[in-house]
Order: sequence, then structure tokens, then C-alpha cells
Amino acid sequence: MKIGIYGGTFNPPHLGHMTSARLAMEMLGLDRLLFVPAAIPPHKALPEGSPSPEDRLAMTVIAADSLLLRDKVAVDDLELRREGKSFTVDTLRQFREEYPGDELWFLMGSDMLFSLPEWHLPEEICALAGLAAFARSEGDEPERMEVQAERMRADYGARVTVLRLPEVVEVSSTRLRAQLAGGEGAEFLPPSVYGYILRMGLYGTHKDLRHLTDAELRACSLSMVYAKRHAHILGVEEEAVRLARRWGADEELARRAGILHDCTKYLELEQQLQICDEYGIVLDDLERISVKLLHSKTGAALARHLYGQPEEICQAIFWHTTGKADMTRLEKIIYLADYMEPNRDFPGVEELRKLCYEDLDAALQMGLEMSIEELRERGVPIHRNTQGALDWLLEHRKG
Ligand SMILES: [Fe+2]
Ligand SMILES: [Fe+2]
Repeated sequence: MKIGIYGGTFNPPHLGHMTSARLAMEMLGLDRLLFVPAAIPPHKALPEGSPSPEDRLAMTVIAADSLLLRDKVAVDDLELRREGKSFTVDTLRQFREEYPGDELWFLMGSDMLFSLPEWHLPEEICALAGLAAFARSEGDEPERMEVQAERMRADYGARVTVLRLPEVVEVSSTRLRAQLAGGEGAEFLPPSVYGYILRMGLYGTHKDLRHLTDAELRACSLSMVYAKRHAHILGVEEEAVRLARRWGADEELARRAGILHDCTKYLELEQQLQICDEYGIVLDDLERISVKLLHSKTGAALARHLYGQPEEICQAIFWHTTGKADMTRLEKIIYLADYMEPNRDFPGVEELRKLCYEDLDAALQMGLEMSIEELRERGVPIHRNTQGALDWLLEHRKG
């Protein structure tokens, strides 16, 4: 197996890292890529005001997840767990022990290739792993790197590859940190990493979470869920806005409800119950044991208390999983957008989509009936509010 090891302070992990990582995987044919956030880099102290190692680790995990290669890409916190300074040679020794028969490649920026002879035990580093250095820019850098690579082959018997990245995104972490403090720089980050920075108030952002722009709110929401869920959330936002336009509902409310509707989807049961406790959400017996039902209640609570959203939005999020009797137009829109947004694919979805734009109540009835049918088939108990929603429609649509 070919394993790439990508070390760095990741302060913060940005699109330059992510595009290099993705391209290095392809060019080297890596089977696995491990991001290794450094604790205290031996050659430079972290700049003042840098986030804690825990926050850098969390951001790196979010950034790695954003590559959507979960079976190949992971983050290893071994340097953060180790006492004292982080030397690359110690890290590579540990990986060598852990993966005795595998081919290791140490990924690095061009500056690191030039400074490597001054590192601790460079010869052993070269014996433990191949070196893959990113050529960062156009100009003569790749040529200078080749010269350096040749020297290291001669001096240390190193295996060195200079990776010329065709579409490398040039990002300076120093400049990016300064931009973030001034309210800029989001375009150089995976949105979910930017959202984490906003939520935690890192790099001097200190945004008021109750008054975020749509883009900032979206980033925050995406930062709370796994990247595999992002397309769905963006799909619900898009579909909700379209439905709101069709049915004369407030598009901005629909957009924000869509953005936030699943933000607590991946919190553990314990965290969900903690939020319920904190905000006084009363649960019935079925909700107490079902994370799937809980996330709409906790999502609504965070929309209200953390993100300061208006009541209509919170209610639409609150009812998006079960539905209920006598729903508002926005509640129907979010329920249905969640059901049939463009990424959804199941028998009958096309018919449901069409109906959503012809007769909102008929579509809601169809959605509820399909949902109840599916729960029955799977032997999952049907929530009384779901049945209540259908009963209410059957009575009132006929009348
Ligand atoms: Fe949901
Ligand atoms: Fe959803």
C-alpha cells in the first residue's frame, strides 16, 4: 500500500492544502493519505493568537472530510498526543512501525524541501519515506527544486519526487489569517472550515452568530455535519427557495430554514439530549430514543438560540421530520423540499416533485403517505404527529 503523510500546522487548513493533497493522491497513486497536524513545529513557533491544537485538529478533520474520500483520507493526531517538540523523524519512525510493509511518502511544500538538510536527522528521514515536494508556483521554482532533489539523492540516497501541480491554489497562511481577522478570506477555505472558524470565533473573526449573512450561516451549518450531507443541505435550500417562489412564501425564510434544517443531524444522542435539556425541549418516549426524530427539535433550538432566527424558521425546522396537523406554508415547503430535493432518488420522486408545484397539499399528503408506508415496511413506529398531519389533511382537503 502507498501511504502519503501530509504534515503541517494547518493554521488553518485551506484550499491550497486540499488541492495539493488531492492532486498528490492522483499523481503518486496513493491508497491512503494521512494529514498530521503538528503540535509545536521545531523550526517555527506558532504565531500569536493561533487556535489551540484541539481547534487545529478539528479544522483539519473537517477539511479532510471535505475531500469526500472517507475510505482513503484520515487525520492522525499522533504529533499532538506526543509530549514535547514534534520532529518529523519521530513521526516517520512511528508510521514505519505501524505500517512495516508499506511504501511511505512524506508530502511537503517547496520551502520544506530546501530546508530539510537543516532538520533533525535528515538522512534517517530520507531512509524512512520518499519525499514528494509540491512545486508551488510557475517560474524557475520547479527547476531549482529538481536541483535540490538531485542533491538529496546524492547526499542521503533519498527518493524524491517534485510534483508540479497544474492547478495549485496559491494561499499564504499568514495573509489568510490577517484576512480572516478583517472579515475576508472565506474563498480560500473549504466552507465547512470557514464555518468552524466563525462558530469558534478563531483568528479574530468574532462574528455575532445571531446576525450572519446567508453565506456565513451556510458555512456554519455545513461545519456541523459530515461532508457527505452537504449536497443534501444545499439541495434543500435550493428547492425550498424555488417552492417559496412558486407558492408566494418568503424566499429568505425558506432559504435559511433549508440551510439550518439538518445542522444537528450528526450529533450523538447524548449531545442531542443535552441541547434538549439546556433549552427545555420536552420529549415524548419515542423521541427520547430516536436521534432521527431529535435532530429536528435540537436544530430548531440552535436556529433560535444560537443563530437568532425568527420563529417561522424555527417551527419549520422543528416539524421537518414528523410533520404535524395544520402546518404553515413554510413548514410544508421545508418538509417537502427535504423529501424531494434534487439529490433524492426513490420510486415516485418525480411524481412527487411535479405535484409539489401543482398542488402543495396534495403533495404533502403524498409525502406523508409514502413516509408512513415506508416506516411500516421497516417496522419503525409512526410518530403520532405524522399520523396527525395526514389525518388533518384527509379531513380538511375533502371538506
Ligand atoms: Fe432532517
Ligand atoms: Fe434533511
